[in-house]
Amino acid sequence: MCGIIGYVGPQTVVPLLVSGLYRLEYRGYDSSGVAVLTSSGLRVHRRAGKIKVLEASLPKKMKGNVGIAHTRWATHGAPTDANAHPHLDCKQELAVVHNGIIENATELRAELEARGHKFTSETDTEVLAHLIEDTEGALDARVRAALARVEGTYGIAVIDQKNPSQLVAARRGSPVILGVGEREMFVASDLAALVRHTSQVIHLDDGEVALLEARGFHTTTLDARPTQHEPQLAGVAHQSYERGDFPSFMLKEIHEQPEACARTLKGRLDSEFDTAHLGGLEISARELLDIRRIKLLGCGSAYYAGLAGAHLLEELTRVPADAEPAAEFRYRNPVVERDALYLAVSQSGETFDTLAAVREVRRKGGRVLGVVNAVGSTIARECGGGIYVHAGPEISVTSTKTFTCTVIALALLALHLGRIRDLSPARGRRLIRALSALPERIADVLAQSEKIRAIAEKYAGARSAFFIGRAGAYPIALEGAQKLKEISYIHAEAYPSSELKHGPLALISPELPTIAVVPHDDLLEKAVATLEEIRARSGPIIAVTHAGHARLTELADEVIEVPTVGEGLDPILMAIPLQLFAYHAAVALGRDIDQPRNLAKSVTVE
Ligand code: G6P
Repeated sequence: MCGIIGYVGPQTVVPLLVSGLYRLEYRGYDSSGVAVLTSSGLRVHRRAGKIKVLEASLPKKMKGNVGIAHTRWATHGAPTDANAHPHLDCKQELAVVHNGIIENATELRAELEARGHKFTSETDTEVLAHLIEDTEGALDARVRAALARVEGTYGIAVIDQKNPSQLVAARRGSPVILGVGEREMFVASDLAALVRHTSQVIHLDDGEVALLEARGFHTTTLDARPTQHEPQLAGVAHQSYERGDFPSFMLKEIHEQPEACARTLKGRLDSEFDTAHLGGLEISARELLDIRRIKLLGCGSAYYAGLAGAHLLEELTRVPADAEPAAEFRYRNPVVERDALYLAVSQSGETFDTLAAVREVRRKGGRVLGVVNAVGSTIARECGGGIYVHAGPEISVTSTKTFTCTVIALALLALHLGRIRDLSPARGRRLIRALSALPERIADVLAQSEKIRAIAEKYAGARSAFFIGRAGAYPIALEGAQKLKEISYIHAEAYPSSELKHGPLALISPELPTIAVVPHDDLLEKAVATLEEIRARSGPIIAVTHAGHARLTELADEVIEVPTVGEGLDPILMAIPLQLFAYHAAVALGRDIDQPRNLAKSVTVE
């Protein structure tokens, strides 16, 4: 959702801003715009719709070396040209782009209008431009003065024709990253827009304001106290943001899973003590020993990864563990227990509801760790300690490699915590072996892509599908259903297999395929009994399972065989065929794979 890119330096800024906007496209947006300081003053172009519409509207002659640009996801006001960012002051001298929400915008707007300011949009952002207009002094001082009036969250970039070689950025609750180049400076809300230009970055802290000029930058707090930052290596190659030869980022990311999972595991398995090392936890073994409950919080696929992790955590540590959607948790006035460990699970580290849940836990004195993919993201920073997933940048809106890697990261935590408690060294050793085998076994599953394509094409015409699983396989069924509905738009629902006879069985018919996730675990025979019930009602069955169960193979119309690593980790492998099934079904239906309708990669609003 919403993206920012800005630049000060010797380059011609318009092409740079436009290519930056394309890099931000994956986040989801419905309008975009650019503002440039040209020799004849500030020039602004904004358009509803796709970036290519904006690009086509830009005059060839619009030349300048300082500019800002934005992709907007409508919250306050419809996705129109007028509501697209950048927003201007009355004199049209300064321009602002903004991610986040100004909570007191209504009051500020009334006050500004009473003073004679004329608004041209319905956005909360426009108040910022008018607030800055009413201030005096250096540009960063003016921005600080305006921000002092503002409640809510923001990542902003501001340019002003009276200060034609400067750009000011500020952050509170919405990421802002500075990129340091050779006599040039960049600003962006997302590394994706920066890494092609520079690998030297600075993550602004909440409550910081940065003044950027071609020769460098300086940062202060909102009350003008100077702060210090040394540029850090971005740590991701720009190729991570490119599709390469793949037709979509989703397919690329599905195929990246062997390496991504190997990265999650790298340096974390300890064969000497048969445990896992997680350097960033910042919680001692003694403290972990006191944990009596584990609660995982997340949204969407992160929540499902949390459910899968909860299963492993409870199984391996014998500490009660469960997962809850972060938004539900934060609004139900939850009891936060002193001896509970809360885990905030998030790919982007920016999901508003997950962040709010973190704050709720912390406000009530609870202990929360992040399980986050995006390094340096807001949730990772607010939690302080935690586990980085290290799946690498994920561009496709629908999550694939991050889901798998997050479950693996949680399995590592379960091993670490288990070994502090009652898990035997022998079991620890077997788990290490199973975890180490995952990358290769994932590659084996990926090799079946063509077979899965044929099955997906056969069922792509279904109007509805069920996904079923039990115990550790149930979260995988939930995630499988999520994948299918997100990108193919086929209605899909997941149930614990045991629940089928309590209602959903009424819908089983030859038109409704059931995708059954059936690892060979203690509940195998129960799962087979459920398949008998489906078969008896002529429901087509696609079984994702292991080889070697004759009756199961007989019952299923299609069998996708997954290798086994054992130790309760097989459901992780079973997520892969479900990703491929959703992908191939969506391709067969001609869907937009990477940017499904109505969805954003990172939901930074409530
Ligand atoms: C959005 C995305 C989902 C994602 C969820 C949580 O809804 O479309 O794919 O699972 O947010 O995102 P997070 O970045 O917190 O994992």
